[in-house]
Amino acid sequence: MRKNIVAGNWKMNNDLPQTEALITDLLKQTKTSNAEVMIAPTAVNLYQAFNATRASNIEVIAQNMHFADNGAYTGEISAAMLKSVGVNTVILGHSERRAYFNETDELLAKKVDAALKNDLRVIFCFGEELADRKAGNEEKVVESQIKNALFHLEASAFKNIVLAYEPVWAIGTGETASPEQAQDMHKYIRKTLNNKYGSQVANDMTILYGGSVKPNNAKEIFSKPDVDGGLIGGAALNAEDFYAIINAF
Ligand code: 13P
Repeated sequence: MRKNIVAGNWKMNNDLPQTEALITDLLKQTKTSNAEVMIAPTAVNLYQAFNATRASNIEVIAQNMHFADNGAYTGEISAAMLKSVGVNTVILGHSERRAYFNETDELLAKKVDAALKNDLRVIFCFGEELADRKAGNEEKVVESQIKNALFHLEASAFKNIVLAYEPVWAIGTGETASPEQAQDMHKYIRKTLNNKYGSQVANDMTILYGGSVKPNNAKEIFSKPDVDGGLIGGAALNAEDFYAIINAF
């Protein structure tokens, strides 16, 4: 089933006291929309965040994981480790992981498989760079990112996948894709899914937009028919701003 989701990707921000303080602030906010709410703190604070939000409707999710079950991968975190601290959803494929940590489509396909095998829901991110858009290649780039990492899956796997279109040029820049640009791409993504898997997978897919979503532009972006929510970076670090975005539904 298609859902409305607003997820805050905290990236490498907030130590433990700051994580606790932000969650305290979040719990004071009132939610009036019907969107699912998620936050993705840094891995080291996931368990604390999970405990602090237990009684609320906030789901704590992870920003990344390794594809192996366990073993000699110094510094890495497995799907089972995430599950054991209360995490049921993981973000994979964020452009910062692709750009700074050389995560390729091939690697991401392995991570997606490992997450699904361990009953983790995946928020799968992708998006074109500015040069791609300037050259008119944004649809081609996005389509290949989706195909290469996901199109080996059975149709039934897609009920545990959420897609997040995050044009790289709009992340952290204050430059948002226009609501029309977001809608056009989301519609294209749904068409791509429809071509491969049929209308049920396409229509049931939750597709989030990410890239400089703020309280003053969320409502217009979320009003588009193929935009089912947002993946929020900077504005998720402030409780009032984050809830203003959530309540934009
Ligand atoms: P900003 O909202 O800071 O542009 O970040 C978006 C993002 O990367 C969410 O994953």
